[in-house]
Amino acid sequence: MAYTRREIPAERIDGQMRLCRGIRESLSPGEHFAMVDTYGCQQNESDSEVLRGYLRAMGYTMTDDEERAEIIIVNTCAVREHAQMRVFGNVGALTHIKREHPDRIVALCGCMAQSPEIREQVKRSYRMVDLCFGPHDLWRFPELLAETISVHGRPGNQGRVFAVNDEAAVAEGMPRARDGSVKAWLTIMNGCNNFCSYCIVPYVRGRERSRRSADVVAEARALVEAGYKDITLLGQNVNSYGRGLDEETDFADLLRKVNAIDGDFRIRFMTSHPKDATEKLFAAMAECEKCAPHIHLPVQSGSNAVLKAMNRHYTREKYLTLVETARRYIPELVLTTDVIVGFPGETEEDFRDTLRLTEEVEFDSMFTFIYSRRPGTPAAEWEANASREEIQSRFDRLVESANAVSARLHAAQEGRTFRVLIDGKSRNGEYNLSSRTAGGRLVHLAGGESLVGTWAQVKITGSNTYALFGEIV
Ligand code: SAH
Ligand code: SF4
Ligand code: F3S
Repeated sequence: MAYTRREIPAERIDGQMRLCRGIRESLSPGEHFAMVDTYGCQQNESDSEVLRGYLRAMGYTMTDDEERAEIIIVNTCAVREHAQMRVFGNVGALTHIKREHPDRIVALCGCMAQSPEIREQVKRSYRMVDLCFGPHDLWRFPELLAETISVHGRPGNQGRVFAVNDEAAVAEGMPRARDGSVKAWLTIMNGCNNFCSYCIVPYVRGRERSRRSADVVAEARALVEAGYKDITLLGQNVNSYGRGLDEETDFADLLRKVNAIDGDFRIRFMTSHPKDATEKLFAAMAECEKCAPHIHLPVQSGSNAVLKAMNRHYTREKYLTLVETARRYIPELVLTTDVIVGFPGETEEDFRDTLRLTEEVEFDSMFTFIYSRRPGTPAAEWEANASREEIQSRFDRLVESANAVSARLHAAQEGRTFRVLIDGKSRNGEYNLSSRTAGGRLVHLAGGESLVGTWAQVKITGSNTYALFGEIV
């Protein structure tokens, strides 16, 4: 796929920082609040950290209270209709705040905002939105906000800003206010070139582009030095990391480089596309002692006919072989997946192939989705040949089977001892701390809150479908 890599020059980011200072100087004395509400995947969580970084540079304090926030940013997801409906519902509900406080600014950004149809819909029907911009414009949020502030209050659409930018780029040096101090997201690439026939992501996130490995490693090193102990390398398809860069590198190389950073920390990554997962990757995972023995490998379907229609570029046989290879390299591998049920044309027989595959592989956990029609994608033109009830029943059967497998795998951990990272609080009766094993399994524990951010040896004493329970030894 022809693609010219566009990088945002450092001066342009400096310019954004100057605009942040300008906004800060224009604020009246006293504390000012802003809020970022995030939907969707880790990529969006990571983008929201950039938005908060910019807002902080503008002098805003973050709040979760929309009554208090002078700026409300809704960072949206377009992957399924349900996510979109929730966004529209919650944005609509902001009308009352705008009525009481017309000076407040509401921004809608993220994947929904990249779609021209949705921008039109927001323009027409969501008058409370003052600023609308997609992921390609994230780096220039200060400039867009400054423009919104300057036109705010003008009548009709003259008082609103709708950014249009279909050109994706790579930007370095943006500020970032991270959530928490134990676990960190680290975006290594953006966009997607895979065009799975059901998926909107390539249309709203643009073509795949990787950050330079030196930039990724420098950010990882800074995180480790700042005390982060769990770093997740993020991309829609990390296995194709490095393509289009002017250096000879790939994801396995990147893992090795991050692994070479001194310190006691864990490396995770997501997501991996099975078509690009290689033996070289599994070898690197096995060799890198900091790399979590976990792989999220979305299978989507166990039927070859459906996989072909989905444009996934692998067969069930290839997927099963891949799992076998991965388990050979990494014996303690925790395997998780995504499955879509009710894809157009999926028959009962196709569905049974999916059920059989998932039972054969035994995923530790599974994210199951009912197919959602995304206008603009190829599959949106295809007819379903199962009724809503049939699809719901397939979904229920799959969830039931997946839960039984998870519960069984979790029960098998009872009595074992693991080294976990205590990463936060939990609310499970006497279990007040949450932690993760190297493989990423959630373990609830009891202990002092000062233990958050530390490692512990725990013995597993109980389990359910979703988690393990343990005691510190
Ligand atoms: N890039 C990642 C996934 C991004 S979206 C990957 O390829 O693995 C996360 C999950 O949402 C997908 O794995 C898929 O299972 C699901 N999904 C994407 N589009 C969907 C749609 N139109 N309907 C239902 N589920 C969908
Ligand atoms: Fe969507 Fe497929 Fe790209 Fe994942 S790999 S983001 S499912 S198009
Ligand atoms: Fe949603 Fe965009 Fe992520 S569509 S799943 S927020 S890439």
